[in-house]
Amino acid sequence: MARVIFYTATTLDGYLADESDSLDWLFAVPGGEGGDADFHGFLDGIGVLVQGSATYEWVLRHEGLLDHPERWPTFYGRRPTWVFTSRTLPDVPGADIRFASGPVSAAWPQIRDAAGDLDVWVVGGGDLAGQFADAGLLDEIRVSVAPATLGAGKPLLPRRLGADRLTLTDVRRSGQFAELTYAVRA
Ligand SMILES: NC(=O)c1ccc[n+]([C@@H]2O[C@H](COP(=O)([O-])OP(=O)(O)OC[C@H]3O[C@@H](n4cnc5c(N)ncnc54)[C@H](OP(=O)(O)O)[C@@H]3O)[C@@H](O)[C@H]2O)c1
Repeated sequence: MARVIFYTATTLDGYLADESDSLDWLFAVPGGEGGDADFHGFLDGIGVLVQGSATYEWVLRHEGLLDHPERWPTFYGRRPTWVFTSRTLPDVPGADIRFASGPVSAAWPQIRDAAGDLDVWVVGGGDLAGQFADAGLLDEIRVSVAPATLGAGKPLLPRRLGADRLTLTDVRRSGQFAELTYAVRA
């Protein structure tokens, strides 16, 4: 049965991006472009990606995908990618993108079936991860904490979750990042 994992980099004060959706603070940290061996090990276990529209549009802009669809991130690969949006957004030719809107629980049977024996990666943003937590579908939160603060921006996880639902299961150092893993109880 697929597990749902919210895996992301975050600032020390709990933001995924600044107010303009910039990740400059992340790319300024050595190793912040990602791609270490542990990340590739994580990806091996992922069958489906899920993201909100701001995250998807950031990837479109950052990679110039509308002009260069071949730049669809190699680490996304051919995995089905669910994009939650209430709008009509452009597709990326060659990528397996499935647009959805409404409660995540309504899309869950299709997401679960597409993942098969592999896990589901909630790429972001934080509210979408919160929607999975609200629905009792979030199994794990894995955050890579960067040595940066922003003071404001797009929140990591705008929900109240306490120790009754979160259990720290792993702590690891990767260069300048502290990686924390929490099991989430439904
Ligand atoms: N630090 C990192 O490693 C990391 C990781 C992931 C993302 N990010 C960045 O963090 C930022 C996240 O942005 P964000 O907080 O705005 O979150 P987001 O989840 O990427 O986008 C939020 C938008 O998705 C749509 N949406 C979400 N749930 C929906 C649902 N159930 N049904 C229909 N539409 C739904 C809504 O927009 P519409 O309906 O208007 O489309 C909503 O405003 C982005 O800049 C992203 O690039 C950073």
